[in-house]
Amino acid sequence: MKEVYLDNAATTRYKPKSVIEEMTEFMKNINCSPGRGGYQCAMEAGREIMKARFILTEFFNAGEPENVIFTKNVTESLNYLIKGILTKNDHVITTSLEHNAVLRPLNQLEENNIIEVSYVEADKKGILNHELIEKEIKENTKLILINHASNVTGTILPIQEIGKIAEKHGLFYAIDTAQTAGILDIDFTELNLDFLGFTGHKSLLGPQGIGGMILSDEMAEKMESLITGGSGSLSESVKQPDFLPDKFESGTLNTPGVIGLKAGIEYINSVGIKAIHNHEIKLLENFLNGISDINKINVLGSLDIENKVPTVPLTVQGYDLGDLGFKLAEEYGIMVRSGLHCAPLAHKTIGTFPQGTLRFSIGWHTTEEDIEYALDTLTKI
Ligand code: ALA
Repeated sequence: MKEVYLDNAATTRYKPKSVIEEMTEFMKNINCSPGRGGYQCAMEAGREIMKARFILTEFFNAGEPENVIFTKNVTESLNYLIKGILTKNDHVITTSLEHNAVLRPLNQLEENNIIEVSYVEADKKGILNHELIEKEIKENTKLILINHASNVTGTILPIQEIGKIAEKHGLFYAIDTAQTAGILDIDFTELNLDFLGFTGHKSLLGPQGIGGMILSDEMAEKMESLITGGSGSLSESVKQPDFLPDKFESGTLNTPGVIGLKAGIEYINSVGIKAIHNHEIKLLENFLNGISDINKINVLGSLDIENKVPTVPLTVQGYDLGDLGFKLAEEYGIMVRSGLHCAPLAHKTIGTFPQGTLRFSIGWHTTEEDIEYALDTLTKI
């Protein structure tokens, strides 16, 4: 059966050859613990990690490579942030478009009466008015935390405008780039960010199990480390080092993952992020044009392709969307994600809670034929 993968918002299934080759090469020929020995292969592993930090720093136009911290994914990075910077009576502003990676750690602290949270509502199309953020600022507000684009609607949030608000009020500013890193240019310095959380396995084209965060110096200094332990440095002391990246990186890193991520970003740089964006947006346009001709399909969220990543949530009249997702996979080889996409408030915002939507998400490896096949199949059904 033909296979068409349209769940790139969950993970990119197809990786550049270089990602797989470089990971394999490392495991075959180096495979020692970075920063944990004075011998050749350990130093080589350390150098590879360092190269990856440099590449990430350049990719996101961030400060120093040491401020790039590796974690296992953006969920872990967001937990580091939320639990590491917020203390008793702090107030946080976030949005109704967030993923559970943000909502659940915030809720955990809220339920324990540690913090207060304001959830700024986007409109029915998933568009967020940045002015509403400023209205929520209070005496005890410490952090503004938002995703760069919603994993449900694909709408891009006004991160520049919100950054200006954070700067004006002297607040920490954090973004979750799970749905945008590798598709859109993100400039850590220009946006005046304190935290940029990223995951490696989506549009950065790396493997699963590697992600990270980039921290401003002030954030790095004030944030407690959630995980402490061996860092390969200051081994004589039971106190966690206070310098970067060791303050936040304990235990042996996922070095093959870091190398895969590095290769993914090198691949993106060689193709050009603009070319990737243009390809994905062209296919998004084809999909949206085609879908508008099909009866009984209702596309949710904004259709403004200038302000959207290629993620399309829809409902189909007369169908249970879980059943339809299953049918598409089993009978036609089309892989999409149905349900709530771990973002219940986003579905409440667009009016699709609790049934959810069927989500089609396009990636760099999606082709025009894939889109035609998906449209033909939906028409047939
Ligand atoms: N957050 C990922 C998604 O939206 C897993 O599917």
